Formats: sequence, structure tokens, C-alpha cells
Amino acid sequence: MKNNVLVYGAYGHTGQFVVADLLRRGLVPILSGRNETALKELGRRHPSLEIRPAAIDDPAALRTAATGVAAIINTAGPFLDTGLPVAEAAARAGAHYLDVTAEQAAAQQIYQEHLQRGWATDIAMIPSMAFYGGLPDLLATAAASPFTTIDEITVAIGIDRWWPTEGTRKTGKRNTAPRLVVTDGKLTPATASERDWDFAAPLGKHAVVECPFSEIVTMSRHLRASHIRTYLSQMALNDIRDATTTAPEAVDASGRSAQRFIVEVTVRQGGHRRRVTAGGRDIYAVTAPLITEATQRLLDGRAKICGAAAPGETFDAQDFLSSLSDTLTVSDIVDEAAK
Ligand SMILES: NC(=O)c1ccc[n+]([C@@H]2O[C@H](COP(=O)([O-])OP(=O)(O)OC[C@H]3O[C@@H](n4cnc5c(N)ncnc54)[C@H](OP(=O)(O)O)[C@@H]3O)[C@@H](O)[C@H]2O)c1
Repeated sequence: MKNNVLVYGAYGHTGQFVVADLLRRGLVPILSGRNETALKELGRRHPSLEIRPAAIDDPAALRTAATGVAAIINTAGPFLDTGLPVAEAAARAGAHYLDVTAEQAAAQQIYQEHLQRGWATDIAMIPSMAFYGGLPDLLATAAASPFTTIDEITVAIGIDRWWPTEGTRKTGKRNTAPRLVVTDGKLTPATASERDWDFAAPLGKHAVVECPFSEIVTMSRHLRASHIRTYLSQMALNDIRDATTTAPEAVDASGRSAQRFIVEVTVRQGGHRRRVTAGGRDIYAVTAPLITEATQRLLDGRAKICGAAAPGETFDAQDFLSSLSDTLTVSDIVDEAAK
């Protein structure tokens, strides 16, 4: 089994968590990105690892960087700028492509270009294999398993604080596409509606605002739902909108911040509802085990399908979530009557 994985954007905040997690799994990261000095600095902490610099507007350098690798993990965002060039390099190299985009339009681009350019269907292209996107997609897939059709999927993302990275701030500014939800089975613009959500402890009941991310795009590919909505804690949005909110600070040896999250997904068919939650710390840090677990499963043959696909389409969702018990506390699925 080939086990070398090019990490594009390796010296970024999320990229560094991903590199550390690949090493923990015995996979071999290759450090890549546009800034050679930053790559060399990271390389000093990992002297055994190869460095392959490549600018995003240099297709030849990206192709060289991708040569001979089993998979590429793209952690360099905004993904509206980096997604397609890195995915193209992966397609040409015959390597799996995974990224961590929360941008709906960037995930859509990967799916569309895979189809239009006729990229190989025996390698995987999985955008949004991350906290936003992949985690709600896997939770909804697990909860929806007995249903053949779905009336409604609701994702509630509770976050107590959001200390944003530079990449998050840049991505927010770059991403001006209208946010989409699913209404009557079709992607339609969201309405920023507000409500309260009663999260489990320690987050408790608080205001949430409709704020859909890439999970709407991934779920709408494979879950036949009439309506899909995502809500996010108002207090997290307030942090992001405040230009003085500082970047995340590590409070433990693994580099995680003190940020706490709970993602609750409910799937309803008629009067029957299934609900599941996942809780943990630090949305950037938890993205690493999500995307490295996906990469490992692709490399050791545990993907159900290949080609451009959503996380829940590609993997056994329940088994995938169970395997992350070190970093993610996933509840049992609760079956209940819908109110
Ligand atoms: N879906 C999710 O849940 C999730 C989770 C984590 C992160 N993300 C996303 O991942 C991205 C990175 O986040 P982060 O926290 O790691 O931010 P970060 O620490 O600021 O790192 C951003 C990385 O992207 C690179 N980059 C940005 N624009 C580039 C371009 N045009 N060409 C090449 N490299 C470029 C940066 O390189 P330079 O320093 O050279 O600019 C840096 O390596 C953001 O878009 C963020 O929203 C999403």
C-alpha cells in the first residue's frame, strides 16, 4: 500500500494538525504549499519529511509536487482559489483528493469539474472532509440509515467561542456566493432566520442563526431530503464578525484551543425523528482526524465508492464516527416521535 500523502497548505493552522495526525497513523506526509520558507521552517520540526513547494498558479509545479503520491489533502483556503488547481494535479497524478472546504461553491466546483473534465472514477475526490461539511454529513447519513426518503434534516452547530484563523477570515471575505439550503428538494438561497436551540451541556440553550456551510451541498448529493437547514450559534458568529477577536490559542500539548462544540443532527420522516450529536473541542483540530481517517480508509480499501462523492456516500458513516472516539464523543442515535 502506498502511504505518502501530500499536504497542500501544510504550514497553516489546520495543515499542521493534519501533518501531526498523519504521522500518528503511520502515514507519510509530504509538506507542500506556496511559501518555501514556511515549509522549511515546518520541515525543521519534521526532518525526515520531504518538502515540495508549489504555487497555486503554477500547474507544472503542482504536477511535480503530486508525482507518485497516494493522496493529496488540501488545507489551503480560500478553496475557491486553491480547490480546482490542486484537484487537477491530483487527477493527473492518479491520487485521491480531499479538502476541508466549508465554502459551498468550492465543493460544488469539485463535483462539477470532476464530471465535466471526465476525471477518473477509480480515485476519490472528497471536498469538505472536515468539521463543517463532513461531520454533519456523516452524522446525518448515520441517522438517516433506515429512511428511504426524508422530509427534513436539521443541523445545529453549537460553538461557545470562535477564535478564527487568518485563513477563516480570508475565506469569509472571499466567499460572497449566496448561502444555499435545500427547500422542496432543490438548492435555494437561505433566509438567515433565527431561533433558540437547546444543546446538551455544557453549551445549553442559546440563540442560533441559519448559516449553511458545505454540508448542504454534500448531503444534497446523496440524501433524498425535501428540506435541509443548518443553524450556528449566534455567539460564534458574533466572535467572527468582531475584527478584534484573536486567533486560536493552544491550551494543551496537542495544540487544541479551549473552544467547545456540539453538532446535533435530526432527521425526520413524517412523525418519526432520529437524532444524533457529536461533541468535542476545537473545530480546527478535530478536522485533522476526520480527514486523515478518510485518507487512511481510502488507502486501505475501506471506501464504498470512489470518484467525486460526499463523505457519507463514500464511507460506512457509523463505523467511521465510532473510530474517532479519541477526539469526538458521538451519542447513540435516539429514535423519537417528532413534535
Ligand atoms: N470545513 C471546516 O470545518 C474547516 C476546518 C478548518 C479549516 N477550514 C478552512 O481551511 C482553510 C485554512 O484554514 P486555516 O485555519 O488552516 O488557516 P491558516 O492557518 O491561515 O492557513 C491557511 C493556509 O492556506 C494557504 N493559502 C491561502 N491562500 C492560498 C493560495 N492562494 N495559494 C496557496 N496557498 C494558500 C496559506 O498559505 P500562505 O500563508 O502562504 O498564505 C496557509 O498555508 C480556510 O479556508 C478555513 O476556512 C475549514
